[in-house]
Amino acid sequence: MSTSLIIRKMVKEKISKLFRLLNTFHAKLPYQRTFSTSCVLHNKILSTGADKKSSSPRVLITGSLGQLGTGLAKKLRARYGAENIIMSDIIRAPKEILETGPYIYADILDFKNLQEIIVNYRIDWLIHFSALLSAIGESNVPLAMRVNIEGLHNVMELAKQYRLKIFVPSTIGAFGPDSPRNPTPDLCVQRPRTIYGVSKVHAELLGEVWCLSLLLG
Ligand SMILES: NC(=O)c1ccc[n+]([C@@H]2O[C@H](COP(=O)([O-])OP(=O)(O)OC[C@H]3O[C@@H](n4cnc5c(N)ncnc54)[C@H](O)[C@@H]3O)[C@@H](O)[C@H]2O)c1
Repeated sequence: MSTSLIIRKMVKEKISKLFRLLNTFHAKLPYQRTFSTSCVLHNKILSTGADKKSSSPRVLITGSLGQLGTGLAKKLRARYGAENIIMSDIIRAPKEILETGPYIYADILDFKNLQEIIVNYRIDWLIHFSALLSAIGESNVPLAMRVNIEGLHNVMELAKQYRLKIFVPSTIGAFGPDSPRNPTPDLCVQRPRTIYGVSKVHAELLGEVWCLSLLLG
């Protein structure tokens, strides 16, 4: 099998896994979930009008033109209806994306603009994919810190304000050379050596504290 086929297969598997995980958004209450390195934060869904079926959440995907966003958006659009899945990013979308449903510009660092989108599109779920990953992050650490950390703070604040369900993926990069292997437990030493990994450990810890504070009221 060629390298590009193998990568496509791996991305497809990751998207299917994410999709299965997101299905629990409908099914479970926060105290019924277990924590994992993919941190899932939860809040109640707001009722957003009589015209929307309760089974069709309105979803905003940030950084949706990346490796995972495009595939997941396709699956979510098939399940919840194209008009309910709002794709966003800071880059120009190809024609095939524009033709399949709503796509808007959204810089994760622009809090007011995000606020406007959530209000105007009556968003219920926020899937946060905007990030500067490994090599790109290391080549511009100040920007990676802003996008990965300040961006996360923005979406978490919005989720609190508007009572959204929010999904923030973590990564294997949140572990470091000192983490135990085979199997690596969720709770273990995490000393990543990249700014990307550090920002994901930050996200995991913030997510846990936030979930606990919600559970404790
Ligand atoms: N791809 C994987 O195998 C993998 C594995 C584990 C976790 N993840 C996580 O999943 C998420 C998505 O990963 P991906 O592989 O699709 O990443 P990607 O690099 O392909 O996409 C990230 C997107 O974020 C966008 N972005 C950058 N700066 C932005 C800004 N200021 N505002 C809004 N958007 C901005 C980029 O334009 C890009 O489209 C990331 O959080 C990543 O850490 C990915």
